[in-house]
Amino acid sequence: MIFGYLCEFINNDKSMNQNIKRIRKILAGLVLITAAAGFTSCEKYQWAPVKVDPEVVIFFQKDIQPIFTANCASCHGATKAPDLRDGKSYAALTKGAFISLPGESSKLYLKMEGADHAPRSSSVDKQTVLNWINQGAKNN
Ligand code: HEC
Repeated sequence: MIFGYLCEFINNDKSMNQNIKRIRKILAGLVLITAAAGFTSCEKYQWAPVKVDPEVVIFFQKDIQPIFTANCASCHGATKAPDLRDGKSYAALTKGAFISLPGESSKLYLKMEGADHAPRSSSVDKQTVLNWINQGAKNN
């Protein structure tokens, strides 16, 4: 359709200069539209919520403990409950009633989402923990 339009301009008997100006305008318009579309899709991508497929099975030792070890265990050791060190965390979380269903209202997830703790883990980490709880918080 755009090419048909361009050909019409070229074929009618106006001076070639005028045609070239029009074609330039059309091309500039197309560039602007493409750029605008690009920016819009960038923005959408940036603000899209992080999704960790809830169907993917989360394993405590492989997926969850490394989150605690990297982000939490420096504070949550022997003296600050829950003890999130490797080998201690599962018992501490279950005994302390930090885990409950639905995961969204569990103490552990609410704390990770809460204003003071939110910067201490990534959104992927939070989602991974949430999915693990909702899959039954197994010691797998
Ligand atoms: C810089 C130190 C620090 C780090 C790192 C930290 N926490 Fe905490 N956390 C605290 C302190 C202090 C408290 C007690 C005060 C409060 O509730 O905020 C606490 C409280 C909690 C509680 C509630 C305890 C209760 O008895 O109700 C949970 C659950 C928790 N943290 C989980 C985590 C998790 C999970 C991480 C890692 C993603 C983490 N924390 C990282 C310092 C830390």
